[in-house]
Amino acid sequence: MTDWSPDSWRRRPATQQARYKDTAALDAALEKIRSYPPLVTAGEVERLRAELSAAAKGRRFLLQGGDCAEKIEDCTSDRIASKLKILLQMSLVLIYGLNRPVIRVGRMAGQYAKPRSSSVERLAGKEIASYRGDLVNDFEPDERRRMPDPARMIQAYQHSALTLNFIRALIDGGFADLHHPEYWDMRDFHGTPAEAEYMKVVGAIQDSIGFLEGLGEIGTDLLDRVEFYTSHEGLHLPYEQAQTRTVPRREGYYDLGAHMLWIGERTRSIEGAHVEFFRGVRNPIGVKIGPTCAPEEAVELARRLNPNAEPGRIVLITRHGADQVDRYLPPLIRAIRDAKLPVVWCCDPMHGNVIKTRSGRKTRSFEAILDELGATIRAHEMAGTILGGVHLELTGERVTECIGGALGLTEDDLDESYETFCDPRLNYSQSLEVALLLARRLGGEGRIS
Ligand code: PEP
Ligand code: CO
Repeated sequence: MTDWSPDSWRRRPATQQARYKDTAALDAALEKIRSYPPLVTAGEVERLRAELSAAAKGRRFLLQGGDCAEKIEDCTSDRIASKLKILLQMSLVLIYGLNRPVIRVGRMAGQYAKPRSSSVERLAGKEIASYRGDLVNDFEPDERRRMPDPARMIQAYQHSALTLNFIRALIDGGFADLHHPEYWDMRDFHGTPAEAEYMKVVGAIQDSIGFLEGLGEIGTDLLDRVEFYTSHEGLHLPYEQAQTRTVPRREGYYDLGAHMLWIGERTRSIEGAHVEFFRGVRNPIGVKIGPTCAPEEAVELARRLNPNAEPGRIVLITRHGADQVDRYLPPLIRAIRDAKLPVVWCCDPMHGNVIKTRSGRKTRSFEAILDELGATIRAHEMAGTILGGVHLELTGERVTECIGGALGLTEDDLDESYETFCDPRLNYSQSLEVALLLARRLGGEGRIS
């Protein structure tokens, strides 16, 4: 690619960027990050590309999930392990139901930068800068602490490394606990109509794992080879550029801060800096597509980011909102299909379904999330295309941020354990239930209709 360089994005309009006052401190922080060893390897990135190209053909399924915004203070062993646990359990449920290998991609180890609908926030009559994620400024609504601080990039990078180190260690140790019934927390399903069915699926998975382990060497080996990839929104371009490099014996540039990056709904302008930057790296790139993206625009984006139409490179993450899927998704699918562009179709049923409660809290309803998944699956079935994955905001904790689900959380329950700094996440049992319902629907009939 002759007309691209790691800094060619600087000649394009870059939206949603932090404005640092101290440019010397900014340069020093970026230099430090450039000098650090990378978080992931080019070989891992290429392996994910190969796996995603299989997902585009319906031979694998992508499960991408994690926090809306990671917090540096949440970089603890318990929280990392519980997020990994729920993603792993969901993936087993999906493998069981879909009969396909699942590609696990966390919104983890780097999801520290957030786009904002407004760059300022009004607080007690005063205007202060909006929170842009722990990578940029502090969540505390204080004028000074909301100033972008370059040192936070180093902190975020180091915490990404700590998180990833622990994920790799947990995975290397195998998941010996998986077949223990107490490892699967099913208490929220007790007494619900679906309890018997969910217990049956989980029991069958435990039996299969027990069987594999019983085989000795082969079994342990199979469970040891669990792959796990990381991803985050590629928003903060100087930070991403600092992690982008060439590696010996491979062609092209890799952003080695994560295996996969995605371009958000607010920054996917075709002539903008984000598309310019990400068109030049080898990583798989997700693009969020909402109702404001015309089908021709999506085609142009997929071409610009993948001019040689290589499979496994582009994941189109549609997020129209449950009520809008029928209107916007079919023409989008037709345009991409008719242009013969190889993409992985992925559904994000979270970001088009944010609602505000009477008390002003952001939430999402479990039913709307299921509705968007169902409408999206139907649209692909009708077009003869394949839904290759889902993108979810979730946590392994028992938070109360989304309403509905097995526990029947209502607006009044939200105050109990509402911890997110950003969008509301599915909790442990809501996440498991989405996987169970999705497995049933994609493997046959079910409540997601
Ligand atoms: C997100 O994934 O947290 C996000 C901001 O999504 P979108 O760009 O689709 O609004
Ligand atoms: Co979000």
